[in-house]
Amino acid sequence: MKTYKIAVIAGDGVGPEVLAEGIKVLDKVAELDGSFRFEFTHFPWGCEYYLKTGKMMDDDGIEKLKQFDAIYLGAVGAPGVPDHISLWDLLLRIRHDFDEYVNVRPVKLLDGAPCPLAGCKKGDIDMIVIRENSEGEYAGAGDWLFKGQPNEVVLQTGVFSRKGTERIIRYAYELARKERKTLTSISKGNALNYSMVFWDEVFAEVGKEYPDVETYSLLVDAASMFFVKDPQRFQVVVTSNLFGDIITDLGAAISGGMGLAAGANLNPERTFPSMFEPIHGSAPDIAGKKISNPLASVWSASQMLDFFGHEAWGAKLIGVIEQVMVEAKALTPDMGGTAHTDEVGDEVVRVLCRNCGK
Ligand code: NAI
Ligand code: MG
Repeated sequence: MKTYKIAVIAGDGVGPEVLAEGIKVLDKVAELDGSFRFEFTHFPWGCEYYLKTGKMMDDDGIEKLKQFDAIYLGAVGAPGVPDHISLWDLLLRIRHDFDEYVNVRPVKLLDGAPCPLAGCKKGDIDMIVIRENSEGEYAGAGDWLFKGQPNEVVLQTGVFSRKGTERIIRYAYELARKERKTLTSISKGNALNYSMVFWDEVFAEVGKEYPDVETYSLLVDAASMFFVKDPQRFQVVVTSNLFGDIITDLGAAISGGMGLAAGANLNPERTFPSMFEPIHGSAPDIAGKKISNPLASVWSASQMLDFFGHEAWGAKLIGVIEQVMVEAKALTPDMGGTAHTDEVGDEVVRVLCRNCGK
């Protein structure tokens, strides 16, 4: 029987409670399938670990993670630890060191999901955002000169390499071709006169190899407006690290909220493990209350199943999430319910079994 070795980094705040439900669901999928199983190894890394040890992860953490088939991550961030440390020393370190240069974020409105846009229904919002995940504005390049002095200067440099820009744009074209969808590039060439002019050029250049893919280019400010006014115009979207970070929170807001939004950090060559996570943070405002929504981590579990080649199970899980929301027997308060996190996980398992005739 095939065994998938999964490194679990539950992290801080609501991370552990939402991941526990995702793991419950993955174990049930494996049991129902019968041809594969999951072996989960838990790592205690995160902010609590940092407060005890001064480190977000072990020195040989990357080495340890290398032997896994995938990483399942909850959330990192806690009051008392600067966010740039918790983010850079764990999450961004893994994304960089494992060359997880593709961040796949589905923005899809399912039946039963709360949507703040008037008149929007299932099918009106159905896009997949491909965010560059290894360089760009989050390359960590820059300097801090004359710190604390009146002539203080900070530089935060966007890094757009030909290799990095081309490969993410090519990934998006390939996806659009495979799914027979339109492709929209979101940039900001009018103001960012080096990086985004380059981005636009590469988008056009690579596009010559994909004459069958219908393309659009939008400035990020206009794109944000259209996300709200006319989300139907987007199918596959490709954008830079920073813009992708921001517009996918907007995407989450219009398609069910942070409790439902998932993201996959892929190393498409499979040289290193890929990482799957709900895109929300540690939600300190509700941490410990056991009311966090685990559906985002279930959705990211479905992305993991897709990546392992079990697309039918991935799709089944999305169907289950939808049924759970439509039936509304167990939903957390962010979705208007009164259920606890684990009750939603149990409900997902119940509906999954029911759909499989078990
Ligand atoms: P957040 O995503 O943690 O919370 C934003 C809002 O969404 C809060 O009102 C929260 O209660 C709600 N929310 C988030 N997840 C939810 C869930 N599963 N169910 C129900 N409601 C949910 O973002 P925030 O507050 O800006 O950041 C909190 C901490 O998380 C910070 O330390 C930040 O650096 C970190 N962070 C970590 C991320 C990661 O690990 N991938 C991503 C974003 C933020
Ligand atoms: Mg974000």
